[in-house]
Amino acid sequence: MGGFVLAIDQGTTSSRAIVFDRSMRIVGVGQQEFPQIFPKSGWVEHDPEAIWASVTHSIHDALARARITAADIAAIGITNQRETVVVWNRATGKPIHNAIVWQDRRTASTCEKLKADGLEKTFTEKTGLLLDPYFSGTKLAWLLYHVEGARARAEKGELCFGTIDSFLIFRLTGGKSFVTDATNASRTLIFNIATQDWDGDLLKLLNIPASLLPEVKDCAADFGVTTTESFGAEVPILGVAGDQQAATIGQACFEPGMVKSTYGTGCFALINTGEDMVRSKNRLLTTVAYRLDGKVTYALEGSIFVAGAAVQWLRDGIKVIGDAAETGRLAAEADPNQQVYLVPAFTGMGAPWWDPEARGAIFGMTRNTGPAEFARAALEAVCYQTRDLLDAMQKDWAKDGREAGDQAMVLRVDGGMSASDWTMQRLSDILDAPVDRPAIIETTALGAAFLAASRAGLWPGCDDFAKAWARDERFTPAMDEATRTQKLRGWREAVKRTLTHS
Ligand code: G3P
Repeated sequence: MGGFVLAIDQGTTSSRAIVFDRSMRIVGVGQQEFPQIFPKSGWVEHDPEAIWASVTHSIHDALARARITAADIAAIGITNQRETVVVWNRATGKPIHNAIVWQDRRTASTCEKLKADGLEKTFTEKTGLLLDPYFSGTKLAWLLYHVEGARARAEKGELCFGTIDSFLIFRLTGGKSFVTDATNASRTLIFNIATQDWDGDLLKLLNIPASLLPEVKDCAADFGVTTTESFGAEVPILGVAGDQQAATIGQACFEPGMVKSTYGTGCFALINTGEDMVRSKNRLLTTVAYRLDGKVTYALEGSIFVAGAAVQWLRDGIKVIGDAAETGRLAAEADPNQQVYLVPAFTGMGAPWWDPEARGAIFGMTRNTGPAEFARAALEAVCYQTRDLLDAMQKDWAKDGREAGDQAMVLRVDGGMSASDWTMQRLSDILDAPVDRPAIIETTALGAAFLAASRAGLWPGCDDFAKAWARDERFTPAMDEATRTQKLRGWREAVKRTLTHS
């Protein structure tokens, strides 16, 4: 016994815990959903206590399924929904407010004001991000302003701010470790991705006291040791990365030019740009892909806010499907003569549009439109949006005479939706490029486990890990050019009609 690695994957709608053995095989999985809180239009919150409960429950289930105990775990890796903000009491670990989730748009007007003051360039140069409510900085500023007494307590050093990774580590270590990693920090709008430190100028602009901030570490590092009370045994936490960066690692996208796209609640495509901090001319983000042994590898990222969430809306919102898994089958039955487009701007539009005020729209419905056409429109929306991201990415990547290597022409996919053959085939058709689905689609958890296990010396390093990456299936384009062009034209028209700005 022993030598097992636990990955904790704290996502937007559920928490998961996955036990891997020494041979990188999954031997136990636990998962639990937790409530989404929508206090107002465009606002999204989570109860940090519900997140914590779902994490501990998932860990318990995963260990039970693997038939092991906490003491058999040699190392823990954590990966998480990024940008989501928690502020808690340093002495008690109690949150002072619900977490404000990455999807939350409440700080749209703050971002507009900062833009009007001509500050977007400053933020973008230092952080690689844009002034959009998506990122943590303005959310943290909102909490300090709106929660009674928060600013005074923050100034006295009584509070901690963290993304979900920091909050979980704080809890798991009994309050001993107040840390984060470079990938999570790179999403906060207050972290300078060139100097790899919190940025004093940006903190001043957002009026955030530095005493609130965690220490920023490499992705594979000593993040602290769990307590017996919180975890059941003393186990080192040795790996941390935001979920999209963990998926990049899990997909072994270690070479510049390699691209992955993860289909969870949202969809996030990242291209590894190596040591180059490529600055996008097409409204993509420059971000930290990973930091290992102090060396930063950067990425360009395209972020779409709604992917799986559109399927969830079909199931729970308008109730036209009973089970997410039936969406692909239903979409395959849709009437090919109907051109129905869903622009799922439920919480605004992300890259490359960045329109926080836009809201969802459906175009092209006829009297015959039914659940099948809705299902197809929801899945196709994900494909079209990925195409928009990859088009932008290719333009940024190809500039300065950089060649897109063979690898860049292939998209590595993962996440729940990638299990749908129909969706992945349609994705390849719309992209007009091959799409590779790996044998292990638990890529995010695998990435976190890899960081921890390689640090512990249990698993091999990057090169051997990359060699072990295996494909389950390659989807290649099968749609004729005329159909693709016509469909893309329809999509672009639908987007144009949805955006609040041109
Ligand atoms: O940036 C938000 C992202 O990290 C959320 O990922 O997997 O919960 O959609 P997911």
